Amino acid sequence: MAQSTASSLIVESGDPDVIAWTYSAPPAPPGTARAFQRAAEGLPGLLTSTGYLPDGLPALREAIARTYDDRGLPTDPHQIIVTSGAMGAISLVVRTLLRKGDRAIAEGLSYPHGVDALRAVGARVGALPVLENPWPIDEFGELAAAGAHAAYLIPEFHNPTATVMPGEQREQLAALARRHGVRVIADESLYAVNLDGTSLPPPYAGFDPTAISIGSSSKPFWGGLRVGWIRAPQDVVMPLVQMRMSTDLGASAFEQLVVTELLTEGGQTAASARARLRAGRDQLLGLLAQHLPDFETYCPSGDSTCGCGYPAPCRVSWPVPRRRAACCSLRAPGSSANPAGPVSGIYGCPT
Ligand SMILES: Cc1ncc(COP(=O)(O)O)c(C=O)c1O
Repeated sequence: MAQSTASSLIVESGDPDVIAWTYSAPPAPPGTARAFQRAAEGLPGLLTSTGYLPDGLPALREAIARTYDDRGLPTDPHQIIVTSGAMGAISLVVRTLLRKGDRAIAEGLSYPHGVDALRAVGARVGALPVLENPWPIDEFGELAAAGAHAAYLIPEFHNPTATVMPGEQREQLAALARRHGVRVIADESLYAVNLDGTSLPPPYAGFDPTAISIGSSSKPFWGGLRVGWIRAPQDVVMPLVQMRMSTDLGASAFEQLVVTELLTEGGQTAASARARLRAGRDQLLGLLAQHLPDFETYCPSGDSTCGCGYPAPCRVSWPVPRRRAACCSLRAPGSSANPAGPVSGIYGCPT
């Protein structure tokens, strides 16, 4: 089994001039505290309930379902399960779908904790080679035909390459998944981090009704909310909720109220979060060009993730004090994110 990435979020150097390369997470955007205050006003109504919400707060499930409706994927609130972050959603889906020894597919570079979740249940992970894009159709077909039960994919601003899966590829992949009975878990946590308003194809589940979609409030709002969700076909909802209750009886009711406020306020907080990330991204690109001119940077339109190819051999030193790079962070190299083993020469640089 690959080395666990469990500590990646809690490694702090304690040196204010050191930028963590182990995660990509900004502080809460302006407007978050206001949402907590508005949620507090709605608290008396919540306190008259038991507060146990194994599938989620009804108002939040409705608000989340509307976000899918708005993206062209009609969704019944009963298809939504609110979880403890997207990570809670990934882990729950994987525990429900996969058993030890089952085959699963993941992009060759992927969100490391997502791949850890597959490995934690003993799945054998087949990695798609990440070449021009992370979803080579022929290789997906081969892994699917070899008996894969599930595929964990990140079609919206793929982590770490920030690529968006084109509509045509969604269609081809969905046809293969259906033919071979592969349940696709589409992690769309990064969907709302669309910094440049890039026009996106319909959600993957619009092409494949058996797919399970995963979303999160962490990226558009704040990681500290710990509210994510699953959108599942109706027949999978109850098995998911039952599995969930073996470890967790529901996400925090108050935080769910806060996210309901954030999703129904008209988009101001999400817009201010995007504006800040955009400024951080632009600052990062400017600093890279100034201080590391040999680095080849690329920054796909829309996402907060930038990449750079560096000249090898290379010793990276970052001369910019943290306070000047306030909205930038650099993330760990691809090795821990790669189900197939270490890679070199590419670093993701989420701003
Ligand atoms: C692709 C992807 N999925 C899931 C997560 C985890 O999200 P959450 O904080 O909602 O658990 C992240 C966080 O960076 C991510 O990039």
